[in-house]
Amino acid sequence: MKILGIESSCDETAAAVVEDGRTVLSNAVASQVEEHRLYGGVVPEIASRRHCEAICGVVRAALEDAKTDLSEIDAIAVTAAPGLIGALLVGVNFAKGLALSSGKPLVPVHHLRSHIAANYITFPELEPPFLCLVVSGGHSHIVQVDDYTKLRVLGRTRDDAAGEAFDKAARAMGIPYPGGVEMDKIAEKGNDNAYRLPRPVVDGAPFDFSFSGLKTNVINLIHNAEQRGETIHVADLAASYRKAVVDCLTRSFLAAARATGAKKLAIAGGVSANSLLRRTLESECKRLGLAFYRPELRYCGDNGAMVASQGFYEYQAGNTAGPDLNARAEMPVELSFAYEPSASFKRNR
Ligand code: KG4
Ligand code: ZN
Repeated sequence: MKILGIESSCDETAAAVVEDGRTVLSNAVASQVEEHRLYGGVVPEIASRRHCEAICGVVRAALEDAKTDLSEIDAIAVTAAPGLIGALLVGVNFAKGLALSSGKPLVPVHHLRSHIAANYITFPELEPPFLCLVVSGGHSHIVQVDDYTKLRVLGRTRDDAAGEAFDKAARAMGIPYPGGVEMDKIAEKGNDNAYRLPRPVVDGAPFDFSFSGLKTNVINLIHNAEQRGETIHVADLAASYRKAVVDCLTRSFLAAARATGAKKLAIAGGVSANSLLRRTLESECKRLGLAFYRPELRYCGDNGAMVASQGFYEYQAGNTAGPDLNARAEMPVELSFAYEPSASFKRNR
């Protein structure tokens, strides 16, 4: 079964064709990162406009690269939540038009579920149940994946997401957007013991995270040094900060693994590209005798292949949508989309 996956939740316009949830036939991405770098972060209205311009070409490229055309596609999957609302609406409306005109089923996909599915592409043998640390620019969750479409959140950030914590601290260090990616590279050349930074815990919630105190700590450290005329060693500070964030993520994730008796651990989302996080969990899992899964680097960030992969499992579970599908800026990962035509839509039909 061939699924076309469409993604426009943030700053990448992406589309892909994936067979049976696991085999990527094409994966086209138009990135806006260069333009948003000028502003130090994603500007939502610019993101929506760029999606509008790019989406036809990106979907066409995904079909052409897969040497297929729409008639051979079995269903159209699209990221419908969560994300920047104006950005999501572009992909959702485009997918609705395509589904209506072609008569193909429309499959809405939760963005975090699709990040988790990036592991199904990288590891064709991986099947639920497993425990997944989902860390992106907007979310940080520990998710129990009971089945492809049955998920439970065991822990979450109380404030900033891990990616946001990286990006904001990177900005204070003078590292250009997207800071998390650049900081990771710079940190490879630094000493992670050079600066003493806290490892915040959330009282009574061992599977939760809190990054805002850590971020503020590093921002204050930079300001104090500036006021005293001292120079900051950026590589050392980046390495110390990256180590602190990764320590917090690892501590809570392994605590959840111990408590649930999980045998398989996975990571997903943009921050799963972090080289220290990958190395640390790889070696911890080895030490503990657990299987460890992480997406291939090109499937860590936003892409259409992960949407098509999760779309396959959502379609199998019957989670399709009708022409009244709307995008949602927020949506719990536990919830599945269900086809319930709204009253107004029924009246107009
Ligand atoms: O999943 P994603 O592409 O978009 C969202 O759904 O938010 O995640 C983007 C986030 C950004 O905050 C970016 O800085 C971070 O992932 N990121 C990284 C790395 N690569 C991307 N953070 C740390 N280390 C990396 N290597
Ligand atoms: Zn994402």
